[in-house]
Amino acid sequence: MIKFADRVARVKGSVTLEMTAVALQLRNEGKDVLNLSAGEPDFDTPRHIVEAGKKAMDDGFTRYTPAAGLPQTREAVTAKLKRDNNIDVTPAQVIVSNGAKHALFNACMALFQEGDEVIIFAPYWVSFPEFVHLAHATPVILGSDPESNFEPHFDELAAAITPRTRGIIINSPSNPTGGVWSREAIEQTIALARESDLWIFSDECYERLTYDAPFESTASIDPAYEKILTFQSCSKTYAMTGWRMGYMAGPVEVVNAMAKIQGQSTSSPNAIAQIAAIAALTGDQGPAEEMKAAFKRRRELMVDRLSAIPGISCGNPGGAFYVFLNVEELFGKQAQGVQISSPRDVSAYLLKKYYVVTVSGEGFGDDKHIRLSYALADEDIIKATGRIAAAVSELE
Ligand SMILES: Cc1ncc(COP(=O)(O)O)c(C=O)c1O
Repeated sequence: MIKFADRVARVKGSVTLEMTAVALQLRNEGKDVLNLSAGEPDFDTPRHIVEAGKKAMDDGFTRYTPAAGLPQTREAVTAKLKRDNNIDVTPAQVIVSNGAKHALFNACMALFQEGDEVIIFAPYWVSFPEFVHLAHATPVILGSDPESNFEPHFDELAAAITPRTRGIIINSPSNPTGGVWSREAIEQTIALARESDLWIFSDECYERLTYDAPFESTASIDPAYEKILTFQSCSKTYAMTGWRMGYMAGPVEVVNAMAKIQGQSTSSPNAIAQIAAIAALTGDQGPAEEMKAAFKRRRELMVDRLSAIPGISCGNPGGAFYVFLNVEELFGKQAQGVQISSPRDVSAYLLKKYYVVTVSGEGFGDDKHIRLSYALADEDIIKATGRIAAAVSELE
């Protein structure tokens, strides 16, 4: 037996990627699978971005770049942050990474270590606790609920801050809930962070995908607080998940520390993708707006159809492309020999009997919901919600 380093046991695999693999396997077996587990847009990368990538290769952008990214890509990020988010930073305050995931990972490695505590709100994106574990720090998980818009319970947050606390991770719009925090919730969080001198990691990967109100970036709410790190991505906004382009904006010292770690792991972010990212961030924003309009329409379709099904419920998520469906009322029921007592059971039932792929809440630190993505065609949303209605009605 191979003796692995302890960190392998310390980290969990990604449940969302696992479900995508299951969906693929069933599809290969010829099943009519409807995949509501996708964590990425179903659109192709807009043409002008693809063309910029091709041209980048022709123009010789085929070599290593500086560890923190090409100067022109860092410059493009600053222009984007100014244009869209009212954030004023210099290129030296930006690091470009192979996806925002990579930037978040590097930042955890740079700032957290053994003995440190990092506050994360459940339901959380699956990777946050794992990054903290990999940094040998301790994630402190605080609950949140749909009744309070998945915002923190501030009395609990204040009580959870100890002399060991080093950071708080915010993710709005949220994966998995689709929830968008109010400005007041962010202000209160910043106030508590300020009191105890904590880092705020603001994961804004879904910033472009807010449907009911303009997005407000955490760093724009309190530009004077220097411990706010802004993480954004080309993945969801520009349908570029496979290009692996994300970035962080924050203090120069943090950028430099992250660049040191990045330089000794991946050397640099992908050169070709960095040129394509410039086209994405500073070029025609029309395709991104069209994708956003499609997601908004699909959200309505999905929420309307799910809301009509007795026994399950969801709010109207303000952003991202996820619905977090409450399935608690189904616990204790059964159908076709399947007993339901957890979100995992609901997910397994929908998958095995109806070929509808979802992600159960447990992986997100939740025990009442399943996550449904609406990053799929309208007709597939109609079919999938029809199958969910049939599945639920069979339970007794
Ligand atoms: C909340 C959240 N943060 C970060 C990421 C990572 O995005 P990227 O593709 O830029 O690494 C994801 C991807 O699913 C996400 O959902």
